[in-house]
Amino acid sequence: MPDRSLNKKFEMIKPGNVFLAIVAICITVQSKAQINPYNYHSQKKITCKKGAVISAHPLASQAGVQVLKEGGNAVDAAIATQLALAVVYPGAGNIGGGGFMVAHLKTGKNVSIDYREMAPSKASRDMYLDAGDNPQMDLSQNGHLSSGVPGTIAGLFASHQYGKLPFEQLIQPAIDLAENGFVITAAEASSLNHNRDEFIKLNTQTPAFVKTIPWKAGDTLIQNDLANTLKRIRDNGAKGFYTGETARLIVEEMQRGKGLISYEDLVNYKAAERTPLIFPYKGFSVVTMPLPSSGGIILQQALGMLENRNIGKMKFQTAASVQLMTEVERRAYADRAEFLGDPDFVKVPVKTITSKKYLTDRMKDYIPNKAGSSTQTSHGIVTESDETTHLSVIDGDGNAVAVTTTLNGGYGSHTVVGGAGFLLNNEMDDFSVKPGVPNMYGAVGNENNAIAPGKRMLSSMTPTIVLKNNQPYLVTGTPGGTTIPTSVLQTIVNVIDFGMNADDAVNKPKFHHQWLPDVIEVENNFDPLVVQQLKAMGYTVKQRGRIGRTELIMVKNKNIVAVGDSRGEDDAEGF
Ligand code: GLY
Repeated sequence: MPDRSLNKKFEMIKPGNVFLAIVAICITVQSKAQINPYNYHSQKKITCKKGAVISAHPLASQAGVQVLKEGGNAVDAAIATQLALAVVYPGAGNIGGGGFMVAHLKTGKNVSIDYREMAPSKASRDMYLDAGDNPQMDLSQNGHLSSGVPGTIAGLFASHQYGKLPFEQLIQPAIDLAENGFVITAAEASSLNHNRDEFIKLNTQTPAFVKTIPWKAGDTLIQNDLANTLKRIRDNGAKGFYTGETARLIVEEMQRGKGLISYEDLVNYKAAERTPLIFPYKGFSVVTMPLPSSGGIILQQALGMLENRNIGKMKFQTAASVQLMTEVERRAYADRAEFLGDPDFVKVPVKTITSKKYLTDRMKDYIPNKAGSSTQTSHGIVTESDETTHLSVIDGDGNAVAVTTTLNGGYGSHTVVGGAGFLLNNEMDDFSVKPGVPNMYGAVGNENNAIAPGKRMLSSMTPTIVLKNNQPYLVTGTPGGTTIPTSVLQTIVNVIDFGMNADDAVNKPKFHHQWLPDVIEVENNFDPLVVQQLKAMGYTVKQRGRIGRTELIMVKNKNIVAVGDSRGEDDAEGF
């Protein structure tokens, strides 16, 4: 049972109540591992034996590890971490968005759960085109009309069949964090201040994220409406979200802001258990997310095109190895744009486009040292008919879980459900609003990813587990929109082909190519000499800010090494 008395203890540790805080800490030391939301810091790496959680926020990682220490398994910890992220990491953690879970259970079973958002029943193919057929990207990316029907809570309950502890125990840390508040960092304060105008413009009631004076490091963010929503979920299960008071509040919010999500859309939402994509790579076995994520297929295609090439010999981030990976990425993303969409709605030739023969053919026009071209190389021939966030968890029994979850852009639609305190996604922008028109990540699509009622929009999220001798070896994933599959690809290749340790595999500079635009994007600290050499081959190379925030667990000689990406405030906890 949840220790509701923790609420009281947290309350006592609020700033300005220092004496009582000391008493509270003394009391709780004797009971169980304690999360102190008023004093925490981010830890980048841990080596341990019994279990680890890495996520975008220390308090969320701590919530997950607390659950492991209480006897929960990796699935329980992943659920508790996601719920805590919905409170402490509102830019991407969510209950108003969706996600994917990939797990390898100690029984040997591999599982994938799809809780991607769905288009509302009143959505239609051309809903973001004006009378002149021009795309209105502001509507697909901001505010009420940009939201798909949220899937996260259905997904957490669907995942929970593989957990051990009662759901109410898993949700309690999130309730406590929402109700009692937590201290925000300088980066969080700056992010809330930066988004203030959008929060005001895109809401019908002032959300907890808006203050009259700017946020600063050390302020406490309390979210009472969210705490009450989480309590309704604790007390009524998924129905506490998809029916009753919470559903009524969502529908009223939609009506105030001219959004489309109806009560029936909420009642009818279902998470789906899908068959994970599993494929070999150089002696390892990769377990990843199938459609409606494009990420798993891109990863399978890219690794398939690398399988028979000795990229390790080319060495890490030489012009030759970057060029090879770029050409592989170009081909995979061209196929994404042409073929991929929700498999419940469109027929996707997955078997063909991941087959050895097809992938060998795709690389026939690859010329070492010469830039390819996205005009000449588009999708293959088939003859048969951010903001986002990732967490990786492992327990001492050998259960491993990779979850990537999203609101899409940072803070999603920026619309908070009045009275319910949570942000809604802007995931409708992941559909192809019009064939060939890029979405916020520059991805293009066609009819297969067109909007239809009840359809799931194509995703790039790529939660992935790599098995060695059928035991978890790597547990990884990242946010980053269309850069997700290429970041996961680089992380895997960094370890398997370049022999890197977990730290370097995560933190070395990254690059990205997605067919269109025909540009190699490189992080600012990418080797300038390699940039010059790539330009000499004929590539357009563009510097950009950070790519993703990769979380990686590596199991080596029975030691768990967990690394949170230094690109953010990501945090690794374990014991
Ligand atoms: N919203 C980002 C993705 O699902 O790929």
